[in-house]
Amino acid sequence: MNMNKRYLKVLFLFGSFFYVTTVDAQQCDTQEHICATNRHDCDPFLATCVEGASNADTKTNYHCVCQTGYQGNGKIGNCSDINECANRTGGCSQLCVNTEGSYRCQCRLGFIMEKDNRTCSDINECAQENGGCSQLCVNTKGSYICECTAGFVLSQDSQTCTGKLNSSMNKSSIQ
Ligand SMILES: *[C@@H]1O[C@H](CO)[C@@H](O)[C@H](O)[C@H]1NC(C)=O
Ligand SMILES: *[C@@H]1O[C@H](CO)[C@@H](O)[C@H](O)[C@H]1NC(C)=O
Ligand SMILES: *[C@@H]1O[C@H](CO)[C@@H](O)[C@H](O)[C@H]1NC(C)=O
Ligand SMILES: *[C@@H]1O[C@H](CO)[C@@H](O)[C@H](O)[C@H]1NC(C)=O
Ligand SMILES: *[C@@H]1O[C@H](CO)[C@@H](O)[C@H](O)[C@H]1NC(C)=O
Repeated sequence: MNMNKRYLKVLFLFGSFFYVTTVDAQQCDTQEHICATNRHDCDPFLATCVEGASNADTKTNYHCVCQTGYQGNGKIGNCSDINECANRTGGCSQLCVNTEGSYRCQCRLGFIMEKDNRTCSDINECAQENGGCSQLCVNTKGSYICECTAGFVLSQDSQTCTGKLNSSMNKSSIQ
């Protein structure tokens, strides 16, 4: 705070000298441990610095590797999201949703995801409360239908079976 100019100058010179020697000392070390320094140009968020030169870059003794789900040379700004869904729908049995750095599988309506997070299985709607059908429930892939026994017809709600007489009586009463 109350330092005079002379003291500051000495401090500056000493500081510079100290800085230079530090860097010099580091330069030998750098050849082996550049990843530990902040002097590599790997993307700080999307890549990791790996010791040892890749085939493409033999001059330096490090290379950059993009994180899983990203592709590129790993240099700053050079890792981009891989669209996993573009290749065989990402291994999803039905729908594939690409996300930043990843992806997920989804199922169509009437299907449920298996524990492997990839395979969609049909939901048997008839297994629960007969699918809401008043008589017969027929499970189909992704859906189900209600059916009626002889002498009955399915009403407009697609669930309730009513006697043909009732149904025709209602129709005729409307007309
Ligand atoms: C990544 O680097 C490669 C090779 O240097 C270059 O062709 C490409 O355009 C770069 N991509 C981005 C997104 O910077
Ligand atoms: C597509 O996926 C298969 C199996 O996961 C993999 O072997 C192949 O390299 C991928 N192809 C591309 C272009 O990513
Ligand atoms: C499926 O996803 C859940 C939730 O994200 C996760 O906890 C589980 O480990 C995943 N299972 C497999 C086999 O990947
Ligand atoms: C309508 O059908 C039901 C059985 O489904 C029967 O009990 C009822 O008597 C019928 N009504 C008429 C008016 O026929
Ligand atoms: C017939 O119509 C009446 C009145 O519109 C309704 O209350 C009844 O539920 C209908 N019956 C059937 C079997 O649809």
